[in-house]
This record gives sequence, C-alpha cells and structure tokens, in this order.
Amino acid sequence: MTSGSQPYTSTGFGPIDDEHEALSLALAALVETVNAGNVEEVRQSLDGVIRGVVSHFSHEEELMAELAYPPRKRHEEAHAVFVADARRFQAELDKTGVTPNFRRWAVGRLPEWFRYHILAHDMGLAQHLLKAGVTAAVG
Ligand SMILES: [Fe+2]
Ligand SMILES: [Fe+2]
Repeated sequence: MTSGSQPYTSTGFGPIDDEHEALSLALAALVETVNAGNVEEVRQSLDGVIRGVVSHFSHEEELMAELAYPPRKRHEEAHAVFVADARRFQAELDKTGVTPNFRRWAVGRLPEWFRYHILAHDMGLAQHLLKAGVTAAVG
C-alpha cells in the first residue's frame, strides 16, 4: 500500500493493487526521464513501462477468463487499445525522439489513462473477484 499521495485509486484486490503500484512508480520514473531529456533513457524507461503493462494486463485477463467475467471483452479491448497507443508512441520516439507530442502523451495522457482505466474497468473487476472469494492472482 502506498501513502495518501498515491495518484490512483486502490481497487481493494491486493494482487492487482500491488501491480498498479509498481506501474505507477514506473510511470513516474518515465516522466522524470522525459523531463531530463535523454532519449536513450526515455527509450529504456518506456520499454519497461510497456513490458510491465503487458504483463499486468495478461494477469487481469487470466483472472477474467477464469471467472467468465461478463464485461471481459470490453475490458480486454481497453487493454488492447492502450497497448497499441503505447507502441505507436514508442515508434514515434524511435523515429523523432522526445517531441512535444510525445512529451504531452508521456507526461499527461499516459498517466491520465492509467488512473481512468482503474476507475472505469479495474474497480469493477476487483469487486467481482472479491465477491467470488478470489484472494490471489493466477499464474
Ligand atoms: Fe489494472
Ligand atoms: Fe485493466
């Protein structure tokens, strides 16, 4: 658990919250590297964020599949859209470096999306898991 300054909402389901905390720290580190302006560091940092996100999404998707969670399709689509967006900005970074457009995404839209996704999708999943008596992540 993080302090009251944590920039996202706890879902109440520990294994998901732990991963959100790690992702939140990785997102904050990305913002720092973007502000520092070293392209190679930004590249590595974003690569770490994308790996972490992909692994986290697959954990949530395994849980949804196991429980035959009704909003599963919609939630998985939100994950897919996010990953596609992140890979698009990763390609932009490779091509043109830290542009104002990339910076706006990494510093604004990306962490904003993370907070929104938790509220719009992960909270419902966590409640469903808790109601179903699931206490640990699969896999
Ligand atoms: Fe999540
Ligand atoms: Fe999710």
